[in-house]
Amino acid sequence: MIISRTTILGASVAAVARAAQPGAVKPVAAPMRDLTWGQLNFLHTTDTHGWLGGHFQEPQYSADWGDYISFAHHMRHQADEQGSDLLLIDTGDRIEGNGLYDASVPKGLFQYGIYAEQDVDIICTGNHELYQPYSIDREHNTTVPNFKDKYVASNLDYVDPETGHQYPMAQRYRRFKTKNQGFDVIAMGFIFDFTGNAENSFVQRVEDTVKEGWFQDLIREKPDIFVVIGHVGLRMEEFEILFKAMRKENWHTPIAFFGGHAHVRDARKFDSLSFAMASGRYMETIGWMSIDGIKNKKEKEKDKGKDVTIEAVTPTFTRRYIDNNLYGMYHHTGRNESSFDTEHGKRVSKAIDRARQALNLDAKFGCAPQNYWMSRAEYPSKDNLYTLITDEIFPDVIVNEKRRDKPRVALMNTGGIRFDIFKGAFTRDTTYIVSPFISGFRYIPDVPYKVAQKVIDLLNSGGRILSTNGADVRFMAIPEQMYPTPSMMRMEKEDDPHLELRDVQKPLGNDDDDDDGDDDNPPLIGGYTTKDDLGDDGDDTVHKPLDFYMQPNAIQSEIAFPEDGSDPETVDVVFIDFIQPWIIPALQFSGGDYTEDDVQSYMDGTLTYKLSKWISENWKGEC
Ligand SMILES: *[C@@H]1O[C@H](CO)[C@@H](O)[C@H](O)[C@H]1NC(C)=O
Ligand SMILES: *[C@@H]1O[C@H](CO)[C@@H](O)[C@H](O)[C@H]1NC(C)=O
Repeated sequence: MIISRTTILGASVAAVARAAQPGAVKPVAAPMRDLTWGQLNFLHTTDTHGWLGGHFQEPQYSADWGDYISFAHHMRHQADEQGSDLLLIDTGDRIEGNGLYDASVPKGLFQYGIYAEQDVDIICTGNHELYQPYSIDREHNTTVPNFKDKYVASNLDYVDPETGHQYPMAQRYRRFKTKNQGFDVIAMGFIFDFTGNAENSFVQRVEDTVKEGWFQDLIREKPDIFVVIGHVGLRMEEFEILFKAMRKENWHTPIAFFGGHAHVRDARKFDSLSFAMASGRYMETIGWMSIDGIKNKKEKEKDKGKDVTIEAVTPTFTRRYIDNNLYGMYHHTGRNESSFDTEHGKRVSKAIDRARQALNLDAKFGCAPQNYWMSRAEYPSKDNLYTLITDEIFPDVIVNEKRRDKPRVALMNTGGIRFDIFKGAFTRDTTYIVSPFISGFRYIPDVPYKVAQKVIDLLNSGGRILSTNGADVRFMAIPEQMYPTPSMMRMEKEDDPHLELRDVQKPLGNDDDDDDGDDDNPPLIGGYTTKDDLGDDGDDTVHKPLDFYMQPNAIQSEIAFPEDGSDPETVDVVFIDFIQPWIIPALQFSGGDYTEDDVQSYMDGTLTYKLSKWISENWKGEC
């Protein structure tokens, strides 16, 4: 049974809720949809990317990791009281993307310890843990030991850099009994077919893993449920491969999938016994799944040796995307400001605050004069962050003194930028949030312009021209748009996404939605209005929809071009190093005979450094 009751929270919470991190904006009340509990329940985080301090500039996501610890504590208690079970899941990409991880030397000095304070029941690895030899080592020598038998690595090995010895990063699967009902759970943990990993790791393709003996033996077992977690987008093929392989040998066991990587809220139904959910990104979302009817009373009696006839049961699945917001956490736990915080949660919130201060994350580089959006504004337009980069930042910062007057094109992939810039203080933390990668700039000198000018269109063509050798052009874009979900398909259908969304997502419990305060309901604030395979009531908080515009894979700036508007003979092709695997074939396809040997370093400094320098010089003044 799926209950979708809407209540208005605002009226029941009188005092102002305190966000756990000092300096973060206060959470705001909003109309809520309740959680439905089942026999087995899950809380799911994914792609947290170091955002353990929560969002300082967005009230709807301003709770921190300490609050999540208090929340999970109360939810576990609730499960114990009603005799159900609750499991916590995390599907990777815990690092890179926030000053709390990226600003320390070495990286993650505080992040790994703070993260490990949460008691996660099933945890796996994302691609971001695997780009650098360092973070692979940390996974191997820190996170795996922190979580011991909770960590699963079904298709990932560690390679010892000294001996070359290759062995599983963690156990391939975990089999355990749930605390209150003793459900027999088999859990696996995958990463998608990632090829960009550093040499001290090995990712086995999922289609090869399913042929392995241990996997084939395991799926013939008869647990009460399989829980397959993965750093895998629900619309990617890896979960489909797993689902098909498992169902071929096992027709009747329910399967719950938990995915990530695509940074979206999404849910997908594979068959009547299997259900998948993905829970967003950056500590904006805590996913909730509940499953009822895994086993009925008679089955439980039979387990105890009684001779009873079994009627088939079909499990029912529900999902909610919980905004990472103290109001919501109070609401779902029936607690308030004075009864919510646990000692443990408070201790972790304090540790985050201390780490942020030690790292000087609030140090201000400048003051953003307006909001700049990644996908809430179209490209190009004055509110678009990529337009800011191509029109204002690149012409100033992409300079090699020796070649200052050479006409050049400067290219970067849109996925190299990870978050919006909000009007107001731009801090050390913001720098890592917007641009966490250590990519620098390279170039090929004196490329005929008639060759160079074709590159950007090739990078942005949806076609497969460059998509050989794993160099899929989509990998350059932001993860949010790589694998379209029902939410995005709905938005793309309409010329005016805003209108369409308003129509589909008639705000619940808010009869006049003009937000003028002449009703008793709190005004809606902008946020997720998710559509997935179960419908459009998945978000726990009723939001005003946000616009979403598809962005190109790559953007380009033309710098020092002839002032008379004529084409230059030759240009320097400058690009962020991450996209070299696409630049070379694009040049070749355009008639340029270039190889990796022609690539040189263009200038010192990463994009992150150049960005912060530009901001401190151009966005002076008070906020
Ligand atoms: C873990 O690996 C990192 C990176 O190689 C290294 O700096 C650190 O000393 C290692 N820690 C332990 C406890 O082995
Ligand atoms: C919190 O709830 C308790 C028990 O229901 C109540 O006594 C207390 O006044 C509430 N505190 C606030 C700040 O609302």
